Amino acid sequence: MNLLVRGGRLFRRGAFEAADLLVREGRIEALGPPGSFPPSGPAVEAAGLLVLPALVDAHVHFREPGLERKEGWETGSRAAARGGVGTVLEIQNNDPLTTDPDRLAEREARARAKSIVDFGLYANLLPASRVHLGRMAETSPGFKAFLGGTIGHEGIRDSATIHALFAAAAAAGRPVVVHAEDAGILAAAAPERPAAAETVAAATAIECAAATGAEVHLFHVSAGRTADLVEDARARGLPVSASVCPHYLLFTEEEVRSRGAWLRVKPPIRGRADRERLRAALASGAIEALTTDHAPHPREEKEGPSPPFGLPSVDLLLPLLFALRDEAGIPLERLLAATSEVPARLFRILGKGRLEPGADADFVLVDPERRFGVEAAGLSSRAGWSPYEGREMRGAPVATYVRGRAVFDRGRFASAPHGLPVRLEGPKIR
Ligand code: DOR
Ligand code: ZN
Repeated sequence: MNLLVRGGRLFRRGAFEAADLLVREGRIEALGPPGSFPPSGPAVEAAGLLVLPALVDAHVHFREPGLERKEGWETGSRAAARGGVGTVLEIQNNDPLTTDPDRLAEREARARAKSIVDFGLYANLLPASRVHLGRMAETSPGFKAFLGGTIGHEGIRDSATIHALFAAAAAAGRPVVVHAEDAGILAAAAPERPAAAETVAAATAIECAAATGAEVHLFHVSAGRTADLVEDARARGLPVSASVCPHYLLFTEEEVRSRGAWLRVKPPIRGRADRERLRAALASGAIEALTTDHAPHPREEKEGPSPPFGLPSVDLLLPLLFALRDEAGIPLERLLAATSEVPARLFRILGKGRLEPGADADFVLVDPERRFGVEAAGLSSRAGWSPYEGREMRGAPVATYVRGRAVFDRGRFASAPHGLPVRLEGPKIR
C-alpha cells in the first residue's frame, strides 16, 4: 500500500526542510520537494505540521510478565505511541528476569501479542545469564547490568563478577547497558544516594569497558561529575556512551524536597549545578542520548507509606523535548537526534530513527505551536499520574506512524497489535 505525506516540514539529517514523503509497504520509498509525487492513493495532509522520525526510547519498563498491574504492553505501548515513540527498548527489572532464551522468547511473544509500537528487549546481565548471552545476542539489543540496588534486585557487588560479565558481553557482541550506583556506597550512605555511588559505579563500568572491550552505555546519568567521566572515556577512544532523562534536566532537588515521593527516582534528581552540567553535556553531545526510564507505579503506591522509586513519562516524550528546548535552551535538532538516530545507531537497530529511503516509515506529525495542560486523564500509562501534571506543554503528537500505519491518531489508537521486534545488525564479535 502507498501513502503520501505531503505539505509538512520534515526533519532529516539534522535540519528541517519542506518535503513530501512517499511510503510503500511500510517503508519510506522516497522523499522530495513539495509536490514531487503525483497523488495516486491515500494521502496525509501535513500542512502546518512537523514530520519527525518516530522517537526511539532506549529505556522503558513495561513490567510484563510479573507486574502487569503496574503497566504491561497494552497500556505501555499506547503511552509510547502517544508520546511520539515508535520503538521502545524495554528492560525487565522484576521477576522473572531475562536470564535465558526461553524467558526472552516469552517476553517477545507477549509484546508481539499486545504492543502497537516496535520493540527491542534487553536481556539481564547476571551470573545466571552468562552462558546464554551468545544466544540472546541474536535478538537482544544489549544486556542490562545492575551495578547497585534497583527495584526488586540487588546490584552486582563484586568487581570480579562485574569484570567477568562484561567480558562475556563483549564476547557475545552486544553493549552492556548500565544502572550505575555502587551497592557498597549506597549501603554505607543509606538512605542518601550520593553522587559518589554513581561516579564510582560509572568508573568501574568504564574501566571494565577498557579492560574487556565491552561496549558500555550508562543510563540515566544524574551527576555532573559522571558526565566528565564519560567525556574522558570517549576522549580515550573507549566504546562508552551515555544517556540522561528529562527529569534530571527539568527538576532539581528543591522540587524533590517539596513534592516528595512524586519525584523520587533512582538515581536521584540532584542540584542545580548538576542539572546545568547535564544540560550542557546533552547539548554538546558528550551525553549522546536521551531516554525516559519510564518507570510506572500506581498512584496509590506513590501516595502510600513506602512509595516505590520511579516516574512514568513515555506518554510525554515528544512534548518533553519541546520543554527542554524552551526551558533548557537545548536545540530541538540535538534533542531529536538524541531520541532517534543516536539510539538507533548505538544499539544497531536497522531502519529506525531516520527519515531516509529504505527506512521503516516510522514518523510523527506534530503541531509545535499547540499548547496543552498535562492531565492524568489525557495519558495512557496505567500509572495514572505524571510528574508533569499541571504543567503547560507543547508538541503533543497529532499522530504516530509505525511502518506506515497510524498507531496513534488524534487521540485514537490502533485496535490490533502491530508491534514487531526490531531488526538488528549482527552482534559485533571481536
Ligand atoms: O527509580 C527507579 N525506578 N529507578 C530504576 O532504576 C528502576 C525504576 C523502576 O523500575 O521503577
Ligand atoms: Zn530503568
